[in-house]
Amino acid sequence: MHTNSSMGEEQKKLDVLSNDVFIKALVSSGRTCILVSEEDEEATFVEASKRGKYCVVFDPLDGSSNIDCGVSIGTIFGIYLIKEDHEPTIEDVLQPGKNMLAAGYCMYGSSCTLVLSTGSGVNGFTLDPSLGEFILTHPDIKIPKKGKIYSVNEGNAKNWDDPTTKYVENCKYPRDGSSPKSLRYIGSMVADVHRTLLYGGIFLYPADKKSPNGKLRVLYEVFPMSFLMEQAGGQAFTGNQRALDLVPKKLHERSPIFLGSYEDVEEIKALYAAEE
Ligand code: AHM
Ligand code: MG
Repeated sequence: MHTNSSMGEEQKKLDVLSNDVFIKALVSSGRTCILVSEEDEEATFVEASKRGKYCVVFDPLDGSSNIDCGVSIGTIFGIYLIKEDHEPTIEDVLQPGKNMLAAGYCMYGSSCTLVLSTGSGVNGFTLDPSLGEFILTHPDIKIPKKGKIYSVNEGNAKNWDDPTTKYVENCKYPRDGSSPKSLRYIGSMVADVHRTLLYGGIFLYPADKKSPNGKLRVLYEVFPMSFLMEQAGGQAFTGNQRALDLVPKKLHERSPIFLGSYEDVEEIKALYAAEE
């Protein structure tokens, strides 16, 4: 399938189908007023008769490059509460991630897992297909303070900036004599973040010379995952600020992102601070 998404990227058939499913379900819920999807260039404004007070930002099927080889993919979402005293506008969506009411993802892998935060911790649910229900299997997820895994597309290394280069070098050749970290990179943000949340460590999609803002989208990739990380006791950093403080200027804005265990993200923050 070779249609193009809002970002000019190749859209797979499942990208398009999942987007339709989510848009229809969210509109017919009667709870939403604005929908922002990775797959649609423009936001969807829900007609007044079906309108509710929530704005949902989502990537209906993240990790599309893994669809055809059966590797885990997922849905990422964030929810804002919109004041009902005015007609909804794009400005209602261009809010910092810290204003999100809830965020989460669903991972379609060897099991179907829903990880959700409504702003007071993170819980994980696993689909029991025989019941058709999500069961609370991972209550109150806390990310380890420090991890033994780093996760990055190292094929972009030749174009990285100095702090990222130094950070990854130190993962492999630690200057303090500690053991090197293991590298794990699936190429589906949902799967890489899920592992990072459960096992600890760091996931990074940094800026590089070819992509000065990185690859991942602020509203529906960076914010929801940063929200979950903070709620689980970890951190999320863009290279110059707390990710959730970022104020997006456009719907499909991108940002570099470093997220995961508190102490691992502290290290990359220190390297960027030393640059200033
Ligand atoms: P997509 O929304 O087009 O699927 O792209 C997002 C994906 C993320 O899931 C993943 O972290 C990243 O892109 C992988 O990119 P790369 O192939 O450059 O490593
Ligand atoms: Mg996608």
